[in-house]
Amino acid sequence: MAQGALRGPSDYSSEPPRHPSLRINAKEPFNAEPARRDLVASYITPVDLFFKRNHGPIPVLDDIDSYYVTIGGLSGGPRRLSLDDIRKLPKYNVTATLQCAGNRRTEMSKSRKVRGVGWDVCALGNATWGGAKLSDVLQLVGVPYHTEITPSGEKHVEFISVDQCPEEKGGPYKASIPLGQATNPAADVLLAYEMNGEVLKRDHGYPLRGIVPGFIGARSVKWLDRIDIIEEESQGFFMQKDYKMFPPSVDWDNIVWSTRKPQMDYPIQSAICSLEDTSAIKPGQITVAGYALSGGGRGIERVDISSDGGKSWFEAHRYQKQGVQYVAGNITSDKWAWVLFKATVDVKGDTEIVVKAVDSSANVQPESVESVWNLRGILNTCWHRIRLLATPNLRSSM
Ligand code: MTE
Repeated sequence: MAQGALRGPSDYSSEPPRHPSLRINAKEPFNAEPARRDLVASYITPVDLFFKRNHGPIPVLDDIDSYYVTIGGLSGGPRRLSLDDIRKLPKYNVTATLQCAGNRRTEMSKSRKVRGVGWDVCALGNATWGGAKLSDVLQLVGVPYHTEITPSGEKHVEFISVDQCPEEKGGPYKASIPLGQATNPAADVLLAYEMNGEVLKRDHGYPLRGIVPGFIGARSVKWLDRIDIIEEESQGFFMQKDYKMFPPSVDWDNIVWSTRKPQMDYPIQSAICSLEDTSAIKPGQITVAGYALSGGGRGIERVDISSDGGKSWFEAHRYQKQGVQYVAGNITSDKWAWVLFKATVDVKGDTEIVVKAVDSSANVQPESVESVWNLRGILNTCWHRIRLLATPNLRSSM
């Protein structure tokens, strides 16, 4: 390995500094999410507060000039691209929400135990990613736009990192996406070197990461070392033995991993972030605020709020830009990004506030967690419920 090149350490002695307000779900590897109220305080999530999801120690790059990414599986042999080569391509800024498939896992685990790092409702964030389109990078090395299959039969693009992951027996994190998506400029798949206008931070993939808008976060590989054009989807652990959705009947003694496809885009999701799951409040008007998002570039058609445990519903105000009503599918809306919502609820006594969202394909969140329970605890998208205890003598207002 060249001196100074990107490398994945075997221990946690070179971790970057982190914001003290993050809620740490696992220390090594570092997995943390912001507090609920911090998450919806802004449409663009500040980098420091953006959730951090790692499977090994954070890679180290001492010398940016020695960095290059290798593109393999090309008919003319592999090509090495430096960061300058990638920066010379047209730069795009894409606002996209990254959501971990394990978001809201803790809640699923309360219904029936699941395996995996526990997450509250904040394993997601919305950022403006700056970089080159993967379609342009692939075109540069001889793979034309809109290639579903190469003349020699390759149909997937695999991203390979350098972090040492125990699940890969010390090998790097890997994942793939379909070649047709990678070579489609409209899919906005990026090789990103910036996040919110700044150079990517180490926690988020410095110096270069994939961003696959509308897909679960697991496909947006950080710290890229190689990009390979391959025949079958990646055989990596995180494609084949994780991030798959099994039916509620499957348990650890009858699981057959190969029977299910790796999860790619995500379903409709929403959660309330202005309140904890059980909150004591003073009777009167309260603000209910949170986020809604759907995968595949689908917009948010509606956010429904109930203040009586789901018996009756009314619509929340939806927005991406302050003061501008969000419209799903509108050219000025960010199609890959979340939509924030706000509603005012008059609370008279103990009650349950519920949120559910509807996307532009009319997909609705499931009512109960049991109906989507799966042993790995992914994609908990059930109605999000908040139990309110009306406490007349409460002194400080929320
Ligand atoms: N890439 C590498 N190399 N290693 C990882 O552990 N985690 C994935 C993905 N890319 C991961 C990775 C998962 S599961 C998620 S949800 C996102 O990165 C999290 O990105 P973030 O830490 O920038 O929020």
